[in-house]
Amino acid sequence: MNKPENQILVIFGASGDLTKRKLIPSLFALEMQNLLPEKFAIFGLGRTEITCEEFRDSMKEGISNNSDVKDNKKPNDFLNKLYYRFIDATDAESYKNFKMKLDEIRNELGIKGNTVFYLSTPPSLYGVIPENLAKCGLNTEEDGWKRVIIEKPFGYDLKTAEELNNSLQKNWREDQIYRIDHYLGKETVQNVLVTRFANGIFEPLWNRNYIHHIEITSAESIGVEKRGGYYEGSGALRDMIQNHLLQVVGLIAMEPPASMDSDAIRNETVKVLQSLRPIKDEEIISIAIRGQYLSSSIRGEKVKGYREEDGVNPESKTETYAALKFYVDNWRWGGVPFYIRTGKRLPTRVTEAVIHFKPTPHHLFSQKAECDTCNQLVIRIQPDEGVLLKFGMKTPGAGFDVQNVNMDFHYSDLSHQSIPTAYERLLLDSMIGDSTLYARGDAVMAAWKFLNPVLNAWKNDPQIPVYGYPSGTWGPEHADDLIEEPGMSWRYPCKNLADDGVYCEL
Ligand code: BG6
Repeated sequence: MNKPENQILVIFGASGDLTKRKLIPSLFALEMQNLLPEKFAIFGLGRTEITCEEFRDSMKEGISNNSDVKDNKKPNDFLNKLYYRFIDATDAESYKNFKMKLDEIRNELGIKGNTVFYLSTPPSLYGVIPENLAKCGLNTEEDGWKRVIIEKPFGYDLKTAEELNNSLQKNWREDQIYRIDHYLGKETVQNVLVTRFANGIFEPLWNRNYIHHIEITSAESIGVEKRGGYYEGSGALRDMIQNHLLQVVGLIAMEPPASMDSDAIRNETVKVLQSLRPIKDEEIISIAIRGQYLSSSIRGEKVKGYREEDGVNPESKTETYAALKFYVDNWRWGGVPFYIRTGKRLPTRVTEAVIHFKPTPHHLFSQKAECDTCNQLVIRIQPDEGVLLKFGMKTPGAGFDVQNVNMDFHYSDLSHQSIPTAYERLLLDSMIGDSTLYARGDAVMAAWKFLNPVLNAWKNDPQIPVYGYPSGTWGPEHADDLIEEPGMSWRYPCKNLADDGVYCEL
């Protein structure tokens, strides 16, 4: 793989948690694979007044806690590429000093104007920083390209997302704006494209004629931890579905792109999001279920309910669980229901998509009811990344009894290398200038537009219940009613790809 051109990566919010836990360890992993540019610097900016040395020490700690590098000397070479400065990002004047220091680093290292600006700050600064950068001319490209990466959440609803987009587009072209969605950086999410389009066997079946329904689950066993303050203003629908899971839907439901070009792929995923059937106000109560985790005892340990978490209103109605049934109104998917659910404090951490194929039109064998729905393709995004095909086989012995069997592939069998983290992939892509795995403005807007009626109703309609569910369970039972056909239910995935069942070992 070619190394990216020489450049500087500027991180706003460099004294924050994301930089220490994810960004710097991922950049270090790229360094270890010799994938960083020949001439490269990371310039951190933050509100904390620390020296460059203190910043390097803190990042060293971040690397040793969050990467599996054994050689202690290695981080030192890498750490020399790091610089730090205090900035008040809201003050346009501060940028003059910052620009001077940036020029100094460029001259010292012989790096021209190529710059990535990474915004790992509170969302209130996502409009302000790019505007202030532009005021200093740091969006112009005479001396080299400029790109700006915006962390999630991109907006709070359709209106605020549009405002943010308009504000960015005043000074930056769409191809300079990289909206990060770390799910798109996950190897196994990208593998959806390969599974579908590198194999002739799946694509002919990938439509309404053969697929009964599609189910996507993203479960977490942790609660909101120290992020209660942020989560209160977000909730599961904004935090996971608007971005990560709808992007996964885009990849699962898209038409084959003509090429692997960024626009070719994103043109197809956006069409899916624009084809989501608009949700009517009167159906929200039955097709969108929300829940909140309650205190409980998990494996003998008492865990707090959401309303008892730090930073959370004791009467909060913010959902920590959301499930949704919807349709993609296009030729391929006409009439095929999609079910999505996500939640915190569920029994295990797992993300997967299940393609449920239609049963055979005529039953020859004495199949148990479960075998009616036995043809499933499970695409496991995490953990135990892989693909599982479930189908019916003859039980040995007399007669023709059919039972469910599994054929599974584990990603770990493919290579001895550990799977690169999402941030590793996404940071490298932004440095190369490949935006394929970043969300385009029109896709983000389409996702907000689709969910806006639900967000409004959940905010304003007191008749819509927030169901409590004990921590450590699979969420409110009402979510089962979304899948109303007899014999059908959600899959209850376990840590290991091939296992399932509500009570299996988690
Ligand atoms: C983040 C959400 O975007 O994704 C978190 O804000 C969530 O609430 C996280 O925990 C899940 O990411 P992953 O990669 O652990 O599935």
